[in-house]
Amino acid sequence: MPEQVGVGVVGVGVFGQLHARVCNELAETRLVAAWSRSDRSLEPIRDLYGVYTTTDINELVARPDLDAVIVCTPDHAHAEPVVAAAQAGKHVFVEKPMATSVADCDQMIHAARAGGVKFMVGHILRFDPRYWQAHERIVSGGIGKLVHMYARRNNPRRACERAFGRTTPVFWLGSHDIDMFLWCAGSEAKAVYAQQNTQLLSDEEGPDSVLAVITFANGIIAALQTSWILPDGMPSDLDAAFEAVGTEGCIKLDASLDGLSVYGPAGIEYPRSMYGAAVKESVTGVLCHEVRHFARCVIEDTEPLVSPEEGREVVRVACAMHRSASTGSVIQLTAQQTQPGYS
Ligand SMILES: NC(=O)c1ccc[n+]([C@@H]2O[C@H](COP(=O)([O-])OP(=O)(O)OC[C@H]3O[C@@H](n4cnc5c(N)ncnc54)[C@H](OP(=O)(O)O)[C@@H]3O)[C@@H](O)[C@H]2O)c1
Repeated sequence: MPEQVGVGVVGVGVFGQLHARVCNELAETRLVAAWSRSDRSLEPIRDLYGVYTTTDINELVARPDLDAVIVCTPDHAHAEPVVAAAQAGKHVFVEKPMATSVADCDQMIHAARAGGVKFMVGHILRFDPRYWQAHERIVSGGIGKLVHMYARRNNPRRACERAFGRTTPVFWLGSHDIDMFLWCAGSEAKAVYAQQNTQLLSDEEGPDSVLAVITFANGIIAALQTSWILPDGMPSDLDAAFEAVGTEGCIKLDASLDGLSVYGPAGIEYPRSMYGAAVKESVTGVLCHEVRHFARCVIEDTEPLVSPEEGREVVRVACAMHRSASTGSVIQLTAQQTQPGYS
């Protein structure tokens, strides 16, 4: 068992670069390599960390100093590198959403099982102390019997333009909250109804917004609002909230602001500081907790907090939302033969 996990980052765009920084700084990880389709994307990684880079995924996963990969390619492009890494016997962390189809999830789960490797999906809200505490209160009966949940996650256009046409607001944003709903409900989804509207983006880029209602097998209901066309004049990159109502109380979580407001000549600004800000030149925040957890699972041979089956259930619900929005029907989901493990 390694004392420090040698990590290769796959896909070094906005989030891959943050992962690379985290892996370079955490005591539990060592950044050893990076992959991207184009050599140009790899330049900043070489400049900053001087590590091996390649545009050949098989070359990357064959490296003996590599114990694990962190896959940060776009939502629809996770399966190929995950399967390549698992087949080469490397542990895998894949960014959320696990994929944009259940078939891709199944292919990845099969490869990870066959390779006998750890496989974790990056549902980061579980490592955010605010969402963690909300979950703990709910599952310990702190608000009585859970009745319903509500979540919203919206971005101004500038924060997600790079993803238009490659994914959807449900996969890109809503997958965070679908995982939170499933984790808190402790039950599979039974039925999904969704509506979408596209006024601003083209049909190839959109939809603009999706609203959905989920009914869980144990009767709990949840509503999700997700949109990526909020105005660029918004002073924050995120408009997000979570609420849970139980028979004896309720929980309200406003995740839009990280608590810091800066007033200047250009107006008000709310910098993000929870996820990857630096304190005294060291990266800190929720992504560090998440990657450290994955590394400790590899080092100590324990199971990650987010299983691939749970990641798959999020994708199954997200796909049902899209089917419902395009057909106008309520989508009934069949019970899974393999339980996703929400309990
Ligand atoms: N947990 C969170 O809070 C969080 C936040 C942001 C993003 N994410 C997730 O992280 C993943 C990456 O997001 P990102 O924002 O970093 O995306 P991004 O900035 O667009 O970067 C993706 C990188 O993947 C490479 N790539 C490889 N295969 C590709 C393909 N088939 N099509 C397009 N690009 C490809 C691109 O570089 P080349 O052109 O050189 O290949 C690009 O640099 C997504 O799954 C996203 O949902 C999670």
